[in-house]
Amino acid sequence: MNIILLGPPGAGKGTQAARMETARGMVQLSTGDMLRESVAQATPVGLKAKAVMAAGELVSDAIVSALIGERLDASDRGAIFDGFPRTRAQAEALDLLLTERGRALDHVIELEVDEDALVERITGRFSCCSCGAPYHDKYKLPRDPDTCDICGAHDFKRRPDDKEETVRTRLAEYRAKTAPILPYYEQRGLVRRVDGMAAVDEVTAQIDAILDS
Ligand code: AP5
Repeated sequence: MNIILLGPPGAGKGTQAARMETARGMVQLSTGDMLRESVAQATPVGLKAKAVMAAGELVSDAIVSALIGERLDASDRGAIFDGFPRTRAQAEALDLLLTERGRALDHVIELEVDEDALVERITGRFSCCSCGAPYHDKYKLPRDPDTCDICGAHDFKRRPDDKEETVRTRLAEYRAKTAPILPYYEQRGLVRRVDGMAAVDEVTAQIDAILDS
């Protein structure tokens, strides 16, 4: 099964993709994670992407499509595309990559959310530097404020693009460039919608109902 999770920044794509990966053995293909890894390793792609990401804008279609192409073969038990495609050109590139491998999209799941709530969701999040466990200033603090509940490490980090001004640019990019690709999939009958404002478990249950139908 090959699934796209579509929704604005903070809609919960990464949260749900990680759950699907654990529960179903599918592979999460997050272009955001791939790009952050490239930036951290200062690869040629990372050097190009760093400032663009920090500004909340989109990295070039050619770069992200190539990243997905490199990882697609490792997901033959099923892929969850998280944060890709984000433009019409990326959607067309994904179709080609899948067709070349005899694979097809099963569902495009749109997480419907209230944009005002997203700014609070994103600007409050942080994670453990060691194991990556996610936390939130308001919704999920570690039991001991200086210690990760999961691995006991003491260092936490925030994404550089999670500042309010940058989040607003990211939301504007989504409205201008990504939301317009929905009709491309709607005309093929692939789009299913879930309530991304529901509790995390409830969103998972809605997605499970689609995947198991
Ligand atoms: P990327 O990493 O893809 O970020 P994003 O799309 O902005 O998405 P986020 O990771 O911020 O949010 P999410 O929807 O995954 O939500 P999450 O589960 O984390 O991209 C970053 C940058 O990389 C882009 O701006 C761009 O520059 C570049 N890039 C990446 N892909 C690209 C592409 N294809 N083309 C071009 N450029 C690209 O949840 C957010 C928070 O909410 C968490 O704290 C979580 O715990 C909480 N939460 C989740 N669900 C719920 C819920 N139901 N209720 C309450 N809280 C919830």
